[in-house]
Amino acid sequence: MPYDLIIANGTVVSPDGTTQADVAIHGERIAAVAPGLAAKANGARVVDATGKYVIPGGLDVHVHLELPFCGTVSSDDWRTGTRAAARGGVTTVIDFAIPYGEQSLDDAYHAWLERAKPKACVDYAFHMAITNWDRHGPEMPAMVARGCPTFKEFMIYAVEGWQSDDRAIYNALESCKKLGGMLLVHAESSRVLDELIARHHTPELMKKYGAQLHAMTRPNFIEAEAIQRAVMWAEVTGGRLYIVHMSTGEGADIIKAAQARGVDVLAETCVQYLVMDDSVFARPDGHLFACCPQLKKPKDMERLWKGLDSGEVCVISTDTCTFTKEQKDRWEGDWTKIPMGLPGLETLLPLVYTKGVLGGRMTVEKFVEKCCANPAKIMGLYPQKGVLAAGSDADIVVFDRKTTIKVDHATMEGGADWNPFQGWDLAGFAEHTFSRGKQIVKDYKCIAEDGWGKWLPRSLR
Ligand code: URP
Ligand code: ZN
Ligand code: ZN
Repeated sequence: MPYDLIIANGTVVSPDGTTQADVAIHGERIAAVAPGLAAKANGARVVDATGKYVIPGGLDVHVHLELPFCGTVSSDDWRTGTRAAARGGVTTVIDFAIPYGEQSLDDAYHAWLERAKPKACVDYAFHMAITNWDRHGPEMPAMVARGCPTFKEFMIYAVEGWQSDDRAIYNALESCKKLGGMLLVHAESSRVLDELIARHHTPELMKKYGAQLHAMTRPNFIEAEAIQRAVMWAEVTGGRLYIVHMSTGEGADIIKAAQARGVDVLAETCVQYLVMDDSVFARPDGHLFACCPQLKKPKDMERLWKGLDSGEVCVISTDTCTFTKEQKDRWEGDWTKIPMGLPGLETLLPLVYTKGVLGGRMTVEKFVEKCCANPAKIMGLYPQKGVLAAGSDADIVVFDRKTTIKVDHATMEGGADWNPFQGWDLAGFAEHTFSRGKQIVKDYKCIAEDGWGKWLPRSLR
């Protein structure tokens, strides 16, 4: 087979090890991974990756682009969000299609597709959010058949019209078991959370504590109790459960114990919970950092890193849900009004690589496992995505082991005028990114074409 492109002499990384090899591409797919392919280039373009890591494009399986939320719309749209992804080495994103009002899952799917299709420059898929069990439950088989086998339920957000109760979670898990689907759950205990928010929502406390009230009203048991309950419904139904954005050490303990007794439950964390703690809320600009769940304590960060190592935390994502300073400033001193969410796609791989691999917390193989291979496997995209192997999509990232770039929102692709990691020196930014064989980042600059990304049908069977 003639090759169109060869990434030559790099260190190719998989969860099982690293090897010196060339990666040859024909069309949109990888044709071969082996040493010495560049010697038979025969006119193919050769990109020299000597001394660099060559990894599968990252997957961020938890993003919210142009999401109507908290009375506004998240400011990374499908253009800026996926360009940020490309520059950060992420070549697949999975967003959450959420039905509003009387909408069906099918309506939500089409609404999300309409927004993504003309703008996305990397491949994408959707988890389907169930916001009304009686309306959406019967639609689950059609969604699985279409290639959307992952569903989402939120235990909070009644004001958004998104909240699911225990009945909905129990029923959805039962259906997932039958259909070969998986239920993703945002686990926070809403009744107690609302009570704690109400108790603290006074002019005196808001004046005294400002954005710190966001953390003060969400003690760890708010997440732990909800994870415990969702795990119980998974245990009795046998449905596969995936806890999104797990932020607490208690959560990791619950997942580990459940997995040990054979419950079909998985948990992701987000990179912000690994690298930042809730002390940021005391800063004068602390309100910018409000996300949901909020950043926790250093001991939680430690426990989540440990969980990545021992396996109960299987994926690192971002929960990208960007808001500009102007949007965040709507809070006017009342933490309950802060649009919750952070930018993240552009810094996911650099943060995990810098703080994880260079920080001595994980190997480069583990980095590829948690950011590429596992998310692809768990979300039904493997081996199309998440691996450098013959037949897989040619989604490839080349990055230098040591070159650092200072995070600066002003030079980034993302749609925010601030960044939580502003001024941090990070290695692991993509020098070159390829999406299905097409170069979308060259010499650290995004050169992607709007609409290049394709919707990906998935299957968990
Ligand atoms: O702060 C966040 N995470 N915003 C997006 C909604 C969610 O709960 O994931
Ligand atoms: Zn959530
Ligand atoms: Zn989210």
